[in-house]
Order: sequence, then structure tokens, then C-alpha cells
Amino acid sequence: MSHFFKESNSVEAVNSRIAADIDPRLKEVMTSLVSHLHAFVKDVHLTQQEWDIAIEFLTRTGQICSEERQEFILLSDTLGVSMLVDAINNRRPPYATENTVMGPFYVAGAPEREMGAQITLDGKGESCLFEGRVVDIQGNAIAGARIDVWSDNADGFYDVQQSGTQPKWNNRGVFTTGADGKYTFVGIKPVSYPIPHDGPVGKMLVALGRGPYRPAHMHFMVSAKGYEKLVTHTFVGDDTHITFDAVFGVKETLVAPFQRIDNGEAIWRSSFDFVLTPIDLS
Ligand code: BEZ
Ligand code: FE
Repeated sequence: MSHFFKESNSVEAVNSRIAADIDPRLKEVMTSLVSHLHAFVKDVHLTQQEWDIAIEFLTRTGQICSEERQEFILLSDTLGVSMLVDAINNRRPPYATENTVMGPFYVAGAPEREMGAQITLDGKGESCLFEGRVVDIQGNAIAGARIDVWSDNADGFYDVQQSGTQPKWNNRGVFTTGADGKYTFVGIKPVSYPIPHDGPVGKMLVALGRGPYRPAHMHFMVSAKGYEKLVTHTFVGDDTHITFDAVFGVKETLVAPFQRIDNGEAIWRSSFDFVLTPIDLS
């Protein structure tokens, strides 16, 4: 009888159990998930031993998760799923600044700072002046845009990874643009760093012959009333990891100039304009 499970009707056997009156979107997502999962198992002819390894891997992935460590996000990031979800949900018009992955190190509530302020509190690293404008697609300045920035320190760690060692809010700050849409602050020229790789995701990367490094980048979250929230980075283009980002976050348009200036104010300058998309265009 067709309602008993057989290899040949496995998808139908599972999906036909879903009740008729459930949330239609849940039904759409789950029937597709079951169908693709079964197709994958059949495609690779998954062995029992391989499935046991997968269950063990997922178990360890869950067990290492805590308030400070989200291994499932790392798994999604390293499999390219985070970037794919971001891409299909943030299709933007030409010239608008593109999104990239948020990462696990954003912390809400960073101090609001005066334009031009220093965000590096540990005195480490090569100072860098970040500057530019927040504009709309026509190039008009956006006043009142909130720019939340964060980066690793010169040793390649975010403050939250070294809470006993680094000053709180090191390399973080929030800036608000004035009528000219301009922003400027002093941080460090960021350095590349490995994503946390002492857990199951790190082991997976080793098994796949992949590295854990992210190319150097500065994180920006830019929001303004009437515009889509922009979650992005600017990248240091000559970083050796630029084409091997462990989480696939690099986009060509996000590679920013880092120019050596050595002018007493800073060693480097990085200029980058953020072009926001109006909400009614999406
Ligand atoms: C980050 O850029 O902070 C990040 C993104 C994904 C995984 C780990 C870190
Ligand atoms: Fe980062």
C-alpha cells in the first residue's frame, strides 16, 4: 500500500502525513526540505556509518553552542548558506552598496561617539582614518544615518572574544551623520583572523582541506529612516585571504582603498561611500 514507506516513494510517504490545515508556508518549506534531503541521501547513496558520523557531528555542533558561541551560524556561514539567504533577500539596484554576512561578533549598544572619534581603545595596531558619505542612489546626502562599526583588534580578536583582556567596546562605536551625510572615525587597519575553529566546524574545514581565515575587514551597519538596513564590510584588497574567505563574504564592490598617509593623524586612510536603497524600491 502506498502509505507504507518504500525507497521508491520515500518523499511522498513523509510529506503525505502533513496535515492539510497547517501554515501554508511551513508546508511549502518542509515538503521541499524533505524532498531535497531524500534526493541527497539517494544521490550519494549515504551509508549507515556516514549517517552516524553526521548525527555525531550535529550533536557536537549543538553541544558547543552557548551565549557566546553559535556553532550553527558558523556552519551556515562556512557552507555558504548565510551568504545565499542574505543575497536572495537583499537584491539591490545597481550602485547601491551590497550586503554581506553579519557574523557573530556584533554587539548592540556600542557607545555613540562624536564624528572623528577614536574607536581603538587598546592602543594596538596601525591607525586608520575611515571616512566617506552616506548617500541615496542619486548621490544625495542622507542626514541622521546611524553607522554602527566594529572590527577585530591588531591581534585578530574582537573585544567579546577577549573580555578580560581588551577594553570593553574596543574597536566599536556608533556615529550619526549630519546634513552633509559625512562620516569619519579613527580605528585600525583591520587584520585577517580565523573564525572560531576549535569545534566541529573547524574539524570539518580541516577535513575539506579548507582554511578558517577571513580576509581583513571593517564591519558597518548603516540604517536611516526610509532606507533598507545595510549590513556590510569593507575589505582590505591585498589581503592574502581575499579569495579564500572561510564564509564567502567578499564582494568585489566591497573592496575598499587603504591608502598609506602617515600624516600624524593616522597611518592609513580608507574612503568609502555607502549608498542606501529606499525601502519602497525593494
Ligand atoms: C565576522 O566577520 O565577524 C565573522 C563572520 C562569520 C563568521 C565568523 C566571524
Ligand atoms: Fe569580522
